[in-house]
Amino acid sequence: MKEGDRAIVVRSHRFAYRSNNGHNTLHCEQLSLSALARKFGTPLYVYSSGMIRERVHTFDYALSEVPHTICYSVKANSNLSILALIAKLGSGFDVVSGGELERVLRASRTAVRKTVFSGVGKTREEIQLALRCGILLFNVESESELDCLAKSAEHEKKIAALAFRVNPDVPAKTHPYISTGLRKHKFGVPINQARRLYRKAAASRWLKPVGVSVHIGSQICDVAPFALTMKRVADLVQKLRADGHNIQFVDAGGGLGIDYRNGANNDFAKGAASYANALLRPLRDLRVHLLLEPGRAIAGPAGMLLTKLIYKKRNGGKTFLVMDGAMNDLVRPSLYDAYHEIVPVEQRARRMEKVDVVGPICETGDFLARDRRLPITEEGELLAVLDVGAYGMVLASNYNTRPRPAEVLVDGRSVKLIRRREKIRDLVRSEVQK
Ligand code: LLP
Repeated sequence: MKEGDRAIVVRSHRFAYRSNNGHNTLHCEQLSLSALARKFGTPLYVYSSGMIRERVHTFDYALSEVPHTICYSVKANSNLSILALIAKLGSGFDVVSGGELERVLRASRTAVRKTVFSGVGKTREEIQLALRCGILLFNVESESELDCLAKSAEHEKKIAALAFRVNPDVPAKTHPYISTGLRKHKFGVPINQARRLYRKAAASRWLKPVGVSVHIGSQICDVAPFALTMKRVADLVQKLRADGHNIQFVDAGGGLGIDYRNGANNDFAKGAASYANALLRPLRDLRVHLLLEPGRAIAGPAGMLLTKLIYKKRNGGKTFLVMDGAMNDLVRPSLYDAYHEIVPVEQRARRMEKVDVVGPICETGDFLARDRRLPITEEGELLAVLDVGAYGMVLASNYNTRPRPAEVLVDGRSVKLIRRREKIRDLVRSEVQK
């Protein structure tokens, strides 16, 4: 297919309907999604490498006026090929477990030196692993963790560079499960105790407090809470410097939201610029190296879940589309009541109907969409669930002994299987039968 072909854009030009043998078929980059479904089966996660690259570059460009490192948040999508792709762009990573750190080690040894370690429950073993492989920064979330870090650093004979993750007590409008920056949440240390904790850290010869870190939540679409947070962080940096600490890094965390309802019209460059502006304004003149931990904003719109309609049924006046993809494959609708746009892979003129899009799992909470108006769909047809590149596959489970989907990464005209579809034998491998 040539550039310039008439295409109906669904999510940037990377996901668009293009005409193909008389059909108008949804494509990921240059590849038709119906061809991918035939080759790899369904349910199938499909990612666009071009879109991931583009979004990392957009963040980079938006932050270009200050020294910075993008530490992609591994939890959003931790597939090794995706991590390797992001590492190749020069990015580092944000990890929250020893397991995520092991993934970074496998994807790129050099990116480990640009990796920050966050999380409220780092174990001694995880801390030791991180010390041994020389990560950039520990984001310490409690005094007990500080004590553990000091002991581990002494044991390993390694100096630990750290930031405290401060809790700025800033409300952010998002789902309550993923808001983290309020006093009542488990995250970070209260900002008003920070100076005492930095003093304590500086007293240890094994610890080097070099940064201040913050993360107020996820899927935040208004930039005002980020600006307020950075104002509080900047004030703290000044005080800490006056106390004699050599603060070089500010880690602004992640959290920039994406537009799940109107993604096609969303100008990401503009959104990233206004986000960067909100972060940078309070930091001007501080001469710090900015770290950013975006996850969703990079990977979210770059992924789709392809799923096939198995049966169509009517019950109690409702129409159900029973798909081969379910809440175990994509839990966000069930868990957060999240909205994901759903579109047919083949586009043609047809009437609309109101449906519940559900999976085969034995729970009423198993749905991908409820009371959704969709073009009338026939059994055997493919639907694409949009914006599932972040917190999609990583949250998938084997509930109902369902093997998890395969994942493919598209780059122009080529496609790579980056996770093979699980088999039942993978699921029972670690079980013991008497
Ligand atoms: N940094 C820290 C310390 C975090 O806890 C998180 C996300 C991020 C960065 C990345 O945030 P992002 O840029 O992706 O918003 N499962 C939920 C989202 C949970 C987010 C947890 N922390 C969902 O599906 O919406």
